[in-house]
Amino acid sequence: MAPAVNPLVAAVEAPPIAEAWSWVEGVTFPADRPLIDVAQALPGYAPAASLVDHLAEVVRTPGIGGYTAIAGLPDLRAAYAGHLASSYGGDITAGDVLISAGCNQAYYLTMTTLARAGDSVILPSPWYFNHKMTLDMLGIEARPLICRAEHGLVPDVAEAEALIDHSTRAIVLVTPNNPTGAIYPPATIAAFADLARRHGIALVVDETYRDFLPVAGAVPHGLFADTNWRETLVQLTSFSKVYCLAGYRVGAVVAGRALLDEMAKVMDCLAICAPQVGQRAALYGISHLADWREEKRQLMGQRLAAFKGALATRNTGFEIASIGAYFAFLRHPWDGEGSTEVARRLAREHGLLALPGAMFGPGQERHLRFAFANVDAAAMPAIADRLAGATGAARP
Ligand SMILES: Cc1ncc(COP(=O)(O)O)c(C=O)c1O
Repeated sequence: MAPAVNPLVAAVEAPPIAEAWSWVEGVTFPADRPLIDVAQALPGYAPAASLVDHLAEVVRTPGIGGYTAIAGLPDLRAAYAGHLASSYGGDITAGDVLISAGCNQAYYLTMTTLARAGDSVILPSPWYFNHKMTLDMLGIEARPLICRAEHGLVPDVAEAEALIDHSTRAIVLVTPNNPTGAIYPPATIAAFADLARRHGIALVVDETYRDFLPVAGAVPHGLFADTNWRETLVQLTSFSKVYCLAGYRVGAVVAGRALLDEMAKVMDCLAICAPQVGQRAALYGISHLADWREEKRQLMGQRLAAFKGALATRNTGFEIASIGAYFAFLRHPWDGEGSTEVARRLAREHGLLALPGAMFGPGQERHLRFAFANVDAAAMPAIADRLAGATGAARP
């Protein structure tokens, strides 16, 4: 008999991306009409050639297979703190940085350190599924903060305040957002920071997509300029998208020293440290790839424009509810048909793998998420054609 499983883990949904791929298992797509994958958000281009060359040398460095300090390589922590201080303004030091094995781990570390089973965390809905799954398996209540279409899918501060009680430990924001692409106004983020400060809870901001903001040199918020930012802010970063390092597993938590000292205990048990090769890669990116980063930011802007343009020129019946950075959140035309049904049909019959809104929380059945950043601008007309050709329950 198999061992009993922690019921909190057993109750968590299956990993969504793997589930979406299972829909097309055994389906053959014609060579002239291959599957278009807009499911998992991954840069659809190679890392910088100079980064790859650098890594080829790095792997020969003596000691590269060893652990680093729990909080990461001192050089990387200092470089990242310097990078943040120069782009956001404000006082950020190496001691404020803990390097993690990716941003999902940064989030897991943060939630484990801030909250325990029975506590609550406010999660804007639709949410990034791994954020919700983490809370569920830790027994932390995820309190949905509904993002409304009439507010551009940006969460409302007053509605958040109404959800806070004695059990609440944090509010989580993701901007630019996954799944909606919404970019939260800095004033809204500042108002959330005020709210968190007034209630003595953390504001956790996942900035995985911040290098793809529409304006060169822009940052998501001005919170680091406040000298008291360490009392409230926990910033989470991924190096996966910006430098194409997803498989190297490297991200970061930026927070006050007291919180990071506690988090180091969790990190020690979870991974001891982030992979050293990934850390070296991130250090190279921060130190040498500013131009490359800007080039890719512009490329994503072009993909976004091409996606919008392609949709505007065809009668697809799909409407853009929100779009930005890496994602478009589209409203599908089939009233009464669930998002999973629609997504499965698009994948199996029309060769377009997108994720159903249902994977991102309740009340999202009319929506699908398109990670348009995965594909070249030249593929956008084909996406629009496949949407226009898709059939369903009753097209209005
Ligand atoms: C909002 C958000 N946070 C975190 C992650 C995971 O990033 P990492 O690869 O650094 O773990 C993703 C990846 O899709 C994401 O969309």
